[in-house]
Amino acid sequence: MSYRHWQVEDSHNIATVTLDVEGASANALSREVLDELEKIIDRLGARELEGVIIRSAKSSFIVGADVNEFRRIADSSQAADLAHAGQHLLNKLAGLPFPSVAVIHGHCLGGGLELALACTYRVARDDEGTRLGLPEVKLGIHPGFAGTVRLPPLIGDFAALDLMLTGHTVSSKAARALGLVDETVPERYLLRAAEALIAKRPKPRRAKWWKRVPKWGFVRRPLRKLVERNVRAKVNPDHYPSPYRILDLWEKNATQEEEARSLGEMLAGRTSRNLVTVFLLGEELKRRGRKHPHNIERVHVIGAGVMGADIAIWAASRGFYVSLQDRSPEILARAVKKAYGFYKKRLKAPRAVQEAMDRLMPDLRGDGLPRADLVIEAIVEKLDAKRGLFAEVESKVRPEALLATNTSSIPLEDIASALKNPARLVGLHFFNPVAQMQLVEIVRGKQSSEQALNRARGFTAALDRLPLDVKSSPGFLVNRVLMPYLIEAVSLAEEGHALADIDGAATDFGMPMGPILLADTVGLDICLSVAEELAGPLGIKVPQKLRDMVAAGRLGKKSGAGFYVWDKKGRAQNRGQRHVSHEPITERLVLRMVNEAVACLREGVAEDADSVDAGMVYGTGFAPFLGGPMRYAETLGDVGLCNTLRRLAQEYDKRFEPDAGWARRELFERRLLKG
Ligand code: NAI
Repeated sequence: MSYRHWQVEDSHNIATVTLDVEGASANALSREVLDELEKIIDRLGARELEGVIIRSAKSSFIVGADVNEFRRIADSSQAADLAHAGQHLLNKLAGLPFPSVAVIHGHCLGGGLELALACTYRVARDDEGTRLGLPEVKLGIHPGFAGTVRLPPLIGDFAALDLMLTGHTVSSKAARALGLVDETVPERYLLRAAEALIAKRPKPRRAKWWKRVPKWGFVRRPLRKLVERNVRAKVNPDHYPSPYRILDLWEKNATQEEEARSLGEMLAGRTSRNLVTVFLLGEELKRRGRKHPHNIERVHVIGAGVMGADIAIWAASRGFYVSLQDRSPEILARAVKKAYGFYKKRLKAPRAVQEAMDRLMPDLRGDGLPRADLVIEAIVEKLDAKRGLFAEVESKVRPEALLATNTSSIPLEDIASALKNPARLVGLHFFNPVAQMQLVEIVRGKQSSEQALNRARGFTAALDRLPLDVKSSPGFLVNRVLMPYLIEAVSLAEEGHALADIDGAATDFGMPMGPILLADTVGLDICLSVAEELAGPLGIKVPQKLRDMVAAGRLGKKSGAGFYVWDKKGRAQNRGQRHVSHEPITERLVLRMVNEAVACLREGVAEDADSVDAGMVYGTGFAPFLGGPMRYAETLGDVGLCNTLRRLAQEYDKRFEPDAGWARRELFERRLLKG
């Protein structure tokens, strides 16, 4: 019997079932993959075997359920049916009359881990690249293939809650310590270890009694309250209900049936639908980037300040050979120190740290230039300086080297005209901090060649960042949409609104940080210079308060005082009490952003509504559960939004006038994600 996605082989009365999903780079559990597995298990169950081994032929075990299928779910009962089907299958696996072993390497996530939990034993490869976890909460759901039921008895209640509530993954070593896997061994011993477990049949693992919490409600209720307090400090239940559902299920020691029903409700809800869309948008951007060969091995970064150092550090951690140039050895030394700290924390293994450090070369004289495949400029935001630098760079690099600038506001054409071959220049606009912000705007100047843009897209994907195409125009996409929101916040402060009310309105809406706190963190001087850059072309009025504060040296966090006073540890003091209802403030802040997003679509700054959403969520953290500004606008309806904008324009000023783009339906079309 042959299958599309699975292979079954027998040896010494042990069946080895290998997953290799057809036409995919990773194994995800689609309906079809699960249906085939069910047939296999039914057949195996009817035979007299010693045991069964389940493993993967790809670089990872199983990365989870097939998220694409989530988008096709019509309602909660259909979603619950999906969970039922998975549970039913895994119950068959768990009920086989002989032992089963999951052999795990690479990622073992979500539904993949739930499949492994249904096996009698689990062995995992003993390296840092092997990661196990239940990240469902990040998509606004919770485990639905009986994970909430099987995990606590295996590793204990609090460890299980921690894995499910945070969605964090653990290494195989940590998984062994938790009791999540039975053994960790090097790759070459994986199968042998699995066979030994089948031969010896040790008693399956169970958490020690002191790690279990009795199932009685009167014991679990107060403990739940304690855990919930921590969750509440981080997660707003109106925005992200699923962690609270996980606690509900745990508190009442829910059955598989209850888990499936709850999952159905979560999957069909707004939060999960939007988080799934946002996730798929990110995957699509990466996929599009990976299509393009970049032919880049050696990267030369000029400017080792905030951005240049971070870009260089990140690129070296992703396997590129990087030379980093700046004007003084002290600046380079600071960058190297930062790199070491970063690699130690992130890569952990001393050898990996050493290898990354070896790939990052401080380069005071620019020796790396003649060998570079790509040069990234990240020096001060001054046109003359950048033009001068690029003219010099061009005379030293190989003719095929790609040139990129990290400018956040200078039109690319103005820089490109300093080059003999302006077609080779593109913008690679990273966001701060590079290691956290996944977006990179690929800025297309009028002169940029398609070949140069393709290489930039491919390179960005190879950096594991998300390349988003934008047109070279003031502020590109992300800063342009964000700036009116920041300026509106300053205007609100100027009018006398309490800072806590302004920031509170934004965080209640779902932004990761209030705009005033954000402005202080970025630096008011930087905000002012970007605002001034955008003010002319976009007709923005820069509030006098911002100019006065910068003139007085109140630059925000870095100077110890801005809107807030900052302590030495970098914490804002006196954030104050909130007083008023937020609605009018939220309206003003958010609608300026949405209106600007529509203007960007009208001008073709971004390709479509999906691109705007992806840009704002991955570039600024715009409320992911709302799916981005355009999806938010779509939910509220354009007629109502335009009416509100008109009312605000009457009440305040013409800056709220609805953009002409609102009238053009075709601008709202979504093309990045089809279907
Ligand atoms: P920064 O002031 O921290 O660093 C600039 C570095 O460039 C300094 O170390 C300086 O010594 C060096 N430098 C200046 N002229 C040089 C030259 N001719 N040769 C070699 N090194 C030179 O600036 P930051 O914030 O890193 O910004 C750099 C660029 O990135 C700017 O174009 C900025 O607009 C852009 N950007 C900044 C972001 C931010 O959040 N700071 C975010 C995204 C882009």
